[in-house]
Formats: sequence, structure tokens, C-alpha cells
Amino acid sequence: MTNSSLKHDSLAFSLLGAARAVARVKAGTALPQALATVFDQFSPPPQARGAMQDIAYRTMRRLGQAEALLSTLASKPPSPAELHGLLCCALALMLPSDGDAPYEEFTVVDQAVTAASTDAAIAHAKGMVNAVLRRFLRERAGLLQQIGDQPAARWNYPKWWIDTVRQAYPSQWEGILNAGNSAPPLTLRINRRKTDRDAYLQSLAARDIAASPLGPFAVRLEKPVPVAQIPGFAEGMVSVQDAAAQLAAPLLDVQDGMRVLDACAAPGGKTGHLLEQADIDLVALDSDAQRLKRIDENLQRLQLNATLRQGDAAAGQWWDGQPFDRILADVPCTASGIVRRHPDIRWLRRKGDALQLATLSARILDNLWRMLRPNGKLLFVTCSLWPQESEMQAAAFAKRNGALRLQAPGQLLPVAGNGQDHDGLFYALFQKSGL
Ligand SMILES: C[S@@+](CC[C@H](N)C(=O)[O-])C[C@H]1O[C@@H](n2cnc3c(N)ncnc32)[C@H](O)[C@@H]1O
Repeated sequence: MTNSSLKHDSLAFSLLGAARAVARVKAGTALPQALATVFDQFSPPPQARGAMQDIAYRTMRRLGQAEALLSTLASKPPSPAELHGLLCCALALMLPSDGDAPYEEFTVVDQAVTAASTDAAIAHAKGMVNAVLRRFLRERAGLLQQIGDQPAARWNYPKWWIDTVRQAYPSQWEGILNAGNSAPPLTLRINRRKTDRDAYLQSLAARDIAASPLGPFAVRLEKPVPVAQIPGFAEGMVSVQDAAAQLAAPLLDVQDGMRVLDACAAPGGKTGHLLEQADIDLVALDSDAQRLKRIDENLQRLQLNATLRQGDAAAGQWWDGQPFDRILADVPCTASGIVRRHPDIRWLRRKGDALQLATLSARILDNLWRMLRPNGKLLFVTCSLWPQESEMQAAAFAKRNGALRLQAPGQLLPVAGNGQDHDGLFYALFQKSGL
């Protein structure tokens, strides 16, 4: 169903699309999929698409606060879910933020009311939308103070998430939670086969794209730009990859001629990096056929080759029995270390997910270990902050399999500032004994 009565360049149109996406997230769908469905329904032009996306992502970073305000401002929980989504999006646009307020407050109120009035499912509540948002503007200071002592409103994470971070990182938990609410940088990885960092920084400067180095092959753009505007992107000169994720391929220490397995490979960020490092014979495995296609697209752009296999890394049907010299196990996890890029994750996960995922990844690791040749190395990676999925998993794995643990960064906490800017990843490197 589309809402053709709204102008596609109006804030009302973008608010309505974002509200539907937020409603879908509340029902358990990941935000990228929720937005894809909304884009199918609304067929927005590119600018409105961008605006819907911005509003929905901003709302995810302010949802705890917006929902706490709503429970004070509305006499009963707003229903249906789309109405709740619309109010959360409008409030999120008016809440204090680090960056510039993207719209005038009275425009937000006016456009939220217009959005409600043109949608049959929520038109009955347009008076309520007007009343709630205007009351927020009138009583803002008092209301914000009133909800300020609720942890979910103060930090914009579910209470169990805050408690888990606090318990695992008693002296760093506030910085970690703040980092997860910041806007993520656009970080590029230089393809060493095609250029080097300083030459690439010069080509960015020549196009007036401000950027700074973050590591030997990592460059951070001051302001994100669409990939089509990134010099050399289409030709594979650079890839988009967080600076912490760029540590994986060098840690695995691949050499020309090695047989390498990238066991949970899609969408292929680390696959491409491994292939940039040396001339290797690489098998890229993933259980998800759709995601496997994205590896293919990435490798075509980089003009590099791997053998792509769909299969379960916890089983062996796809394996030809030839041992690997190196294995990268970037296992499925809660993704609690990359919430600044995926701010919906905190609202979608449940406390028990870490245990469930850790059980699966323990099976994956044990299975891959038997595919490693003597003296071979296996790099275990997660983008999680939960010790259950990371350090505890690594320690238990080493003990079960008698694996030698080599030097690796361990738990990297998300950080921004002082020349650093990266997600929260975990690295453990193991070597099999030479028989
Ligand atoms: C953290 S992502 C990998 C990211 C990738 N290494 C990169 O750098 O772009 C984990 C991947 O594991 C895949 N996966 C989940 N369970 C799997 C299994 N049992 N066997 C193989 N792949 C699996 C998921 O489809 C997902 O693509």
C-alpha cells in the first residue's frame, strides 16, 4: 500500500515510512529488512529513501528515551504499532543530539500530524499525535528530568544490556554504551595490490574529500559519502571496512600458495582482504545462499578469485578432505560490538541469545579444527562484547582441543577519538601442534 496523497519530498512521507520500519523492528525484524519492505511499499525516490533511513536509524539510537517519554505523555500505550512508531520517530527528531537538529521542531509536529491524518490505520489518532508532541515541546525540561533516572531512557539500551556491559566492563561500561550511540565513521581499506595509503589520501584530497589515516591500510572519511562517490571504489582500489575488522587478514599471516578457508565468509569483507594479502587458494564458505552472492559481487569488484561454497561450517559435507593451512572462523554472534552501525540490534536481541550462539560457534570451531593441518593456524573472530561468546569461548576451545594460543588482540572495545575509531571485535589465534 502506498501513500500517494503525501508529497514524496515531504517530511510527513519520510516520517510515515520510518514509522512503519520502526514498527517492524518492534515486531522482531532487523532494521535493514524492515526498511527494504517499506521501500517496496512506498517506492520512495532516493532522497526520501535516505530520509526514511536516517530517521529510522536515529530513532533506534533514541528509542529508550522516546518510549519512556511516551509512557509519561500518553494516557495508554499508542496502538497500532505504526502510531507508536510515528510518535517515537517524531520525538527522536526533537530530542537533544550531538549533531545538528535536522528539522525545525514545529515542522516535525506539523508533519507528524499530517502523516497520521493521511494513513487510514492511524488517522483517528491525529489529535492525540498533535497533543502529545506539543506537550513534549512545552514541558520538555521537566519531562526529560522525570525520565532521567530510568536506565533505558538514560542510555537508550534495554536494561539487561546495560547490566551485562556493566558487569563485564565495570570501569569502561559508560564509554562503551556511549560509543554504541555515536554515528559510525566510514572507514576504507586500501587494496595493497592497487595503491598505497598515502597515494590514496592524496587522491581523496584532490577531490576535496577530507580523510585521515587510521592504520597502515585504513583511512577514515570525515563525512560519509555514497560509495559511488568514493574514488576507485568501483575498480576495487578500496573497500568499506571497519578498522578493527581490518586486523583479521594480517593476523592470519597467509603466504603465497597456501590453502585457506574463510568459514563464515559472507558478505566477504575479510575474504577480499585475505586475497589482497597473498596469492592463496581460498575456499569461502557460508550457510546463507543469498549472502554468498554478495561475496561474489565483492570479489568481482576487487578482481580476485575464490571457490565459493554453500554449507554448514559445523558439518563437513562441503569439504573435500584436503586440510587447510589457515582457517578464518568469523562466527555468527550477537553483534553486540557493532551496535553503532546496527543500532536496532540492542532492541532485537534477548539475554539468552549469547548462550545459544556460543553453543553453535563452539560446534563450528571444533569441526573446523579437524580440517586444519598440523602447524596450521586458526583465527577465531567475533563482533561481540559478551565474554561468553568471546574470551570464555576461546579459553574453553583451547582446553578442549589442546590448541596453542598465539599472540592476538583479544577483546577490542569500541572506541572513537585520539586517532582511533573502531568497532568492538574479539580475536583469538590458535596453532595446531606439528604431529
Ligand atoms: C559475522 S558474519 C561474517 C562476516 C564476514 N566474515 C565478513 O568479514 O564480511 C557471520 C556469517 O556466518 C554465516 N553463518 C552462520 N551460521 C553458519 C554456519 N553454520 N556455517 C557457515 N556459515 C554460517 C552467516 O550467514 C554470516 O554470513
